[in-house]
Amino acid sequence: MSREIRNITVIGAGAMGRGIAQVAAMGGYRTRLFDVAAPVLEEAGRVVHRNLDKGVELGKVDESTAALAKENLVLDTELEAAAADTDLVIEAVPELLELKIETFQRAAGSAPKEALFATNTSGLSITEMAPATGRPERFAGMHFFNPVHIMKLVELVRGLETADKTVELLREVAERMGKQVVVVNESPGFVTSRINALIGNEAFRMLQEGVASAEDIDTALKLGLNHPMGPFEMVDLVGLDVRYSILKYLHQTLGELYRPNNLLVQYVRAGRLGRKTKRGVYEYDEEGKRTG
Ligand SMILES: NC(=O)c1ccc[n+]([C@@H]2O[C@H](COP(=O)([O-])OP(=O)(O)OC[C@H]3O[C@@H](n4cnc5c(N)ncnc54)[C@H](O)[C@@H]3O)[C@@H](O)[C@H]2O)c1
Repeated sequence: MSREIRNITVIGAGAMGRGIAQVAAMGGYRTRLFDVAAPVLEEAGRVVHRNLDKGVELGKVDESTAALAKENLVLDTELEAAAADTDLVIEAVPELLELKIETFQRAAGSAPKEALFATNTSGLSITEMAPATGRPERFAGMHFFNPVHIMKLVELVRGLETADKTVELLREVAERMGKQVVVVNESPGFVTSRINALIGNEAFRMLQEGVASAEDIDTALKLGLNHPMGPFEMVDLVGLDVRYSILKYLHQTLGELYRPNNLLVQYVRAGRLGRKTKRGVYEYDEEGKRTG
């Protein structure tokens, strides 16, 4: 179906795209990273180099892997040039369906006929995006986690027309990037966002009912259930507005179980969006240290 994957193009050099480009380059792929914003692209290049140097310093990345990754990574300011000789396009632009569709149309216009396409969407429909490439059988979701160079999982998401061979090839790519893969059939929130939203929503309900304090709910899940972070620490990191919008979508598509909790909605209305506004469930100082 496809030639061997050697060249990867990543579109969007934000928090996710730059991380995906880093692990692709570390996996030995010739990696082209493109962003519409030139300063973001330059910053992304600097961050990847810094992460690699830090990895070497901490003994987590071999010097040779870091050197190879730096050599493999090319920053591109033209999408058409970035996609021209690629085997796989991975899209990481903002979570807007129209923007993603338009991005895939442009990339597919320049990419070789045999190329594969993947979106890093957190929850939009793979099936709805796939036709934009004109090759829906070569299209799937590759859902990475933040920070990409540290988090081990990739949810590989099949759309209605994704071919088995596409899943097989993308699994190989993800594994060469050092990730472990789970295959998920397209469904709102996939596995991770759906479960996480439910736990987070339930935690807000318990807080509202006065079952326990936020801190005690977090401690209970960390020490009793071995979660690495409590649900309120997590939502402060993710952003309460982001969680609210995921819950609204899950509520709309999966039903009543996912109705966003009132207290969460109130926090969002009050502008308590989490670490990014210094106040969410908890409070933070300028350096991001918890103060309340
Ligand atoms: N941040 C997370 O924790 C996370 C986790 C998993 C998946 N995602 C998904 O990954 C995608 C990207 O999220 P992010 O957090 O990296 O966003 P971000 O805002 O940090 O980065 C998006 C980048 O895309 C660029 N961009 C905008 N329009 C573009 C275009 N037409 N062509 C090329 N680049 C363009 C922007 O300049 C920006 O640098 C979203 O779909 C998001 O839902 C995010």
